[in-house]
Amino acid sequence: MAGGFVSQTPGVRNYNYKLTPKVFVTCFIGAFGGLIFGYDLGISGGVTSMEPFLEKFFPYVYKKMKSAHENEYCRFDSQLLTLFTSSLYVAALVSSLFASTVTRVFGRKWSMFLGGFTFFIGSAFNGFAQNIAMLLIGRILLGFGVGFANQSVPVYLSEMAPPNLRGAFNNGFQVAIIFGIVVATIINYFTAQMKGNIGWRISLGLACVPSVMIMIGALILPDTPNSLIERGYTEEAKQMLQSIRGTEEVEEEFQDLVDASEESKQVKHPWKNILLPRYRPQLIMTCFIPFFQQLTGINVITFYAPVLFQTLGFGSKASLLSAMVTGIIELLCTFVSVFTVDRFGRRVLFLQGGIQMLVSQIAIGAMIGVKFGVAGTGDIGKSDANLIVALICIYVAGFAWSWGPLGWLVPSEISPLEIRSAAQAINVAVNMFFTFLVAQLFLTMLCHMKFGLFFFFAVFVFIMTIFIYMMLPETKNVPIEEMNRVWKAHWFWGRFIPDEAVGISAAEMQQKSV
Ligand code: BGC
Repeated sequence: MAGGFVSQTPGVRNYNYKLTPKVFVTCFIGAFGGLIFGYDLGISGGVTSMEPFLEKFFPYVYKKMKSAHENEYCRFDSQLLTLFTSSLYVAALVSSLFASTVTRVFGRKWSMFLGGFTFFIGSAFNGFAQNIAMLLIGRILLGFGVGFANQSVPVYLSEMAPPNLRGAFNNGFQVAIIFGIVVATIINYFTAQMKGNIGWRISLGLACVPSVMIMIGALILPDTPNSLIERGYTEEAKQMLQSIRGTEEVEEEFQDLVDASEESKQVKHPWKNILLPRYRPQLIMTCFIPFFQQLTGINVITFYAPVLFQTLGFGSKASLLSAMVTGIIELLCTFVSVFTVDRFGRRVLFLQGGIQMLVSQIAIGAMIGVKFGVAGTGDIGKSDANLIVALICIYVAGFAWSWGPLGWLVPSEISPLEIRSAAQAINVAVNMFFTFLVAQLFLTMLCHMKFGLFFFFAVFVFIMTIFIYMMLPETKNVPIEEMNRVWKAHWFWGRFIPDEAVGISAAEMQQKSV
């Protein structure tokens, strides 16, 4: 095979399967799981900038927004308003921890189904909300749904995909997330123009559509070979593997899955085990990757783009339109990752995207600072505001082919079976915690740190880019049950991985790397 497709890690087998229609359709449906998360991410920002919604549930914010003399940076600052957005992520955090057991014991598809179901009930609560309590209960149910889906879908996709195309398939989850965001912003754009309370009700209530899609999807999807073996259905697993790989010749991969399952059976407590030194690289990565993904500051744009654009002096309609444009750019740029992640690898995308985000963030901060000043009372002219929107698009593009998809891909592919569900639960929980924190604190931070907020995130982007450069080995094309060899070959992590975990002696390893 061409150099780009061959794994560089010594001792790692390369299966190089062809793409079969079955695996394509299965992963396409599986990726629907990202829709509910995306729809929700995209809908909240627009709804919280709709006047009838604010007037009904947050009259204080509404009054403040209307007052002409407020400091621009503080127009929307309200803890209660942000609680509306962020409560969902706390619920998702909690449910992802339960979801890990459902995913392991009952299989990946039932976690997805449960996710769709709770999300469905939550959307009904929100669409018919009469008071704040109904609104928050709805958000919490939506959050449970997101926790279950985000825990199970990335693992499902990574296990189903042929190893040499795993990155592209897993990125389908991020494509679905962004698609959900874009659809939500388009819906918001139209519903915001409706009179009275009907607009926001439609926006929130339509969340039931993606939830029905994931429920139906989960019912018709097969479970992954890895999960079937894990639950004792060895013969079915082999047939499933043959049918998704499109060949009878799956002996080697099948044996890897069986071995991995045997090994994982020795582990009774995945939660306790993940703390053992031999899982240190996975533990650190599953904590730091989601943490860093959120500290890119992306959700400042996702949740609050309409609010941010209004702060920059755009009208309410223009703000929603700009949010739509950034969403469409993010969607298109995510495909760059889909088509390159298995060719150039994860590291190249992480590093290039990081540098692009860093530069654009510094430029955005500087421009807003110069134009608004520290007091936040300056004025931004039309052409400057447009330039800021363009810079935001460059930033979003960088995220779209790096930390966006890879923030879900890498944690789902680096752990051995025995700790995979627990590791993915940690990944989701950490992601949700920091999503919550950014959502909850952004408006206050904007109010107090002003344009410095962009520099704040830029510092983190700098740190995470160094972190990836030093600590993340390349995982492209490595079969998921062979990942230990990649850690073993890493300059830092190698010391944590015992020789027996890679099934070859250290001398053999040495010999292979020469
Ligand atoms: C992140 C979200 C983000 C979304 C869209 C996802 O990968 O986890 O926090 O809102 O991408 O940008």
